[in-house]
Amino acid sequence: MSTTATRAPQPAADPAPRSIHIQGGVPLRGDVVIGGAKNAALPALAATLLTDEECVLNNVPMLADIATMVELLRSLGADVDLDPVRHRVRVRAKQITSFRAPTALVGKMRASFLVAGPLLARFGEAISSMPGGCQLGSRPVDVDVRGFRQMGATVEVSDEEVATRATGLHGARIYMDYPSHTGTENLLMAASLANGRTTIVHGACEPEIVSLGSMLNRMGARIQGLGSPTIVVEGVDRLHGVSDTILPDRLEAGTFAIGAVITGGEIRIHNVREGDMLPLTAKLRQAGAEVWSDDDAMLVRPGRGLQAVEIQTLPFPGFPTDLQAAFATLMTQATGLSKIHERVFEDRLRYTEQLVAMGADIWVEKYGPDRYGTRAEIHGPTRLRGTAVRALDIRAGAGLVLAGLVAEGETVLSDVHHLDRGYEALVPKFRRLGARMDESGPMPAD
Ligand code: EPU
Repeated sequence: MSTTATRAPQPAADPAPRSIHIQGGVPLRGDVVIGGAKNAALPALAATLLTDEECVLNNVPMLADIATMVELLRSLGADVDLDPVRHRVRVRAKQITSFRAPTALVGKMRASFLVAGPLLARFGEAISSMPGGCQLGSRPVDVDVRGFRQMGATVEVSDEEVATRATGLHGARIYMDYPSHTGTENLLMAASLANGRTTIVHGACEPEIVSLGSMLNRMGARIQGLGSPTIVVEGVDRLHGVSDTILPDRLEAGTFAIGAVITGGEIRIHNVREGDMLPLTAKLRQAGAEVWSDDDAMLVRPGRGLQAVEIQTLPFPGFPTDLQAAFATLMTQATGLSKIHERVFEDRLRYTEQLVAMGADIWVEKYGPDRYGTRAEIHGPTRLRGTAVRALDIRAGAGLVLAGLVAEGETVLSDVHHLDRGYEALVPKFRRLGARMDESGPMPAD
């Protein structure tokens, strides 16, 4: 009988959670190059399901959400080759083996629902659990569902899933009661392969939607009116492969622009499109910052004093909700009373508690101990002090990084996995501009 003791396998110890440590007080100076936009790359990847030919996407940011979408495409049967060094993804969706988006992936990221439009249009079936993603308040998909139904699909919606089937979509005149970003994208993709003309009235006008529509046109679709609320799609029988380049990320660029102003530095931001930035740059200028743009670069620095301003978030070309937290952080350093009205999401002001913990003077509308409203008022300027804070979602996390850059002492930001979803190499990029910032804990897998 063996005397060797056998040990039962031990569960791996939980790795120490990652955090970002920031020592504030350094003006950021230098150049930063902006990557491709997450919110353009995700629908572009979904659109590759519309053809059996190869599609090549360049300038794709290497982010956790992109990895989720790649996993989703593979789970449906697509061949996907991801080159993180070249920021390139090749997809060939010749054979699709499943029409069901796995629950685990859909629960991670709301944009997973973007595969519904292409699957329905090309194969006549798409099943998905109710999409998850950042907790920003209610995030229904009723705009997509109504549109699919108007195009002839049968859609069964339960608490758990959305099952969509059609024997052939037909064109329709679709009025969207809210210009949903992913809703417009889903309907555009579905309409591209529908029989006849689809007119989307009150569609979203975001640059990412224009970019998707242009890619679809290069695949053989016939779409007009992109960038306006009325989009007309003449359905075609088939789409072909394409090589496309993802447009620059206006939200990443905006985060660095605010970083220049809040730290009293000067940053030249490369690979940025001026028109996409206007909703932010208009407000930065109104607050007293200086912004110059030429070709694909932008120089941002503070002017003489930073003044309080009011913002209300709206669909493009309104002020982007995704820069609301970053801008509110900036306003903690402005003189006077700033007002924020969040009009896109119903629950996107929770992060203000963290700014208050750092010393900000913020009043937030609340309907109960845990029910936030959509308005906030910020009295400034206030000194921020470094402390332990949490990233509640991608953009709230970015706002707290900016707060850390201007705070006295050390800010320790936890739950940084949210930032991995939307910002590639955030810490190295800030460090190259002079920020004293470090990451601790295990890095995410490639
Ligand atoms: N809405 C409806 N009905 C619908 C769909 C949406 O009422 O059928 C409401 C939502 O409840 C919400 C608002 O419309 O209050 C905005 O939702 P929308 O569908 O426009 O947003 P989304 O498509 O879920 C995209 C971005 C978000 C960005 C919003 C607003 C992607 C992958 N996501 O979300 O990005 O905040 O548009 O611009 O494109 C981020 O990148 O951090 C992020 C959250």
